[in-house]
Amino acid sequence: MHDAIAILDFGSQTTQLIARRIREAHVYCELFSWDTSPERVLALRPRGFVLSGGPASVYEPGAPTLPPYVLRSGLPVLGICYGMQLLAQALGGRVAPATRREYGLAQLELSDEIESALISPLSPLRARPQVWMSHADRVERIPSGFRVLARTPNAPVAAMGDPARRLYGVQFHPEVAHTPAGREVLRRFALEVCGCEPTWTPAAFIEQAVVQVRDRVGEGRVLCGLSGGVDSAVTAALIHRAVADRLTCIFVNTGMLRRGEPQQVVATFRDRLGMELVAVDATEEFLSALEGVTDPEEKRRAVGERFIRVFEREAKRLGQVGFLAQGTLYPDVIESAAPDRPGARRIKTHHNVGGLPERMRLQLVEPLRYLFKDEARAVGEALGLPEEVIWRQPFPGPGLAVRVVGEVTWERLERLRAADAILLGELGRAGLLREATQQAFAILLPVRSVGVMGDDRTYEEVVVLRVVTTEDFMTADWARLSPDLLARVSNRVVNEVEGVNRVLYDITSKPPATIEWE
Ligand code: XMP
Repeated sequence: MHDAIAILDFGSQTTQLIARRIREAHVYCELFSWDTSPERVLALRPRGFVLSGGPASVYEPGAPTLPPYVLRSGLPVLGICYGMQLLAQALGGRVAPATRREYGLAQLELSDEIESALISPLSPLRARPQVWMSHADRVERIPSGFRVLARTPNAPVAAMGDPARRLYGVQFHPEVAHTPAGREVLRRFALEVCGCEPTWTPAAFIEQAVVQVRDRVGEGRVLCGLSGGVDSAVTAALIHRAVADRLTCIFVNTGMLRRGEPQQVVATFRDRLGMELVAVDATEEFLSALEGVTDPEEKRRAVGERFIRVFEREAKRLGQVGFLAQGTLYPDVIESAAPDRPGARRIKTHHNVGGLPERMRLQLVEPLRYLFKDEARAVGEALGLPEEVIWRQPFPGPGLAVRVVGEVTWERLERLRAADAILLGELGRAGLLREATQQAFAILLPVRSVGVMGDDRTYEEVVVLRVVTTEDFMTADWARLSPDLLARVSNRVVNEVEGVNRVLYDITSKPPATIEWE
């Protein structure tokens, strides 16, 4: 078992970041809504608590409160923003509504005489005291036993601590990138204050997950749908490590994939990793399901329905299988305390196999359900998956069907694939895939325009290039690519792709546009 920290969520937008920062320090942590039952939280056997921020005011009727078991446990506590205010209020300090809201960057003044485990004389906060603030209320009187560790021009108590009781509070948000030294605060809290051992590593996770999968599956057989994406790939590789040839993967080539992808899936999973892989080419079936369909929602439905049918048919052929592996990740299962999702449990049904577990009486195996995406990638790397798989960009379930605007035909799919491969190739050569841009693809429009090639008039289709930068795919901006690069892509597409004589660059952000066109 790993040493662990329990994070209580009071509804802040950045609570998940707290968890990611602590895990980056190789300490395991889990998120709970603040009103989760004490038994469930304490079952984690936490060595400390972090209280997140939140939008409420501690004096508001019905505002989330500090559950009494937290302080009763005698374990270390770090309150962040609203969490610090709760701590102050619970221990006899005073929280007052601020005369004005403080939002944005602030310079921290660390109090000199203070030395503590959280903010030490060597703290990077001394060198880079810039912190991100977002609060209305503030702590005006600290509880007895506490000392002020830092202030800002607007907050007389920007950090407070009672080292004897190992209780700390920070008004700023150490989890966000705008607080450059914040990572260090969370790391010190986990390692120094709570005394956690930094054992949470990909290798340790794999070892533990392998044992758990073996326990769960016993002598049974496991089925896994591979999409080529990172979640299902890491899931399959992990389960393969646990049960070897009792795992069978099914890969459905819908015909809606990018150039080279079906071959890459077979090369990686069957040839390189030695997995039992059933690869089905269902292109014809999908094309006929899409014949004459131009409405985006209908396309999605058609692809989704057909996918379930093909998958189920192939699964039945395999005979007795007891388990279905899914690449569910932690953000899909976290119970959120955010006001717009009151305790809602969102579970993403992966890759259109919805309903299949019930119909085929399969039990789910979800070995990644406590991992964030970046952790799943690190596990994939440790399992030897190739970089192209680990860093594969998000790809919509219906695939190129929603990037071929208008009717989906084989000819138009091939046209799009050729343009898309040129765009990705050029971006890759320029070193702009992965860090500089997060998603890049081409779209084919059902619009023709007039052009001239040599001495001939042309009347052909239009390709749009979509390249975006984004942190979470909820909002996105179009990438400011250099005109030279755009010119190179445009020239190559028009010269090399038959049936296309015009290239556009999409300069719309999300919102108001979405990333995909359909
Ligand atoms: P939008 O177009 O809504 O897309 O801005 C946001 C992100 O989600 C991806 N996307 C999908 N992913 N199944 C998926 O697994 C889908 O049906 C789907 N539709 C969109 C999209 O590529 C982008 O990364």
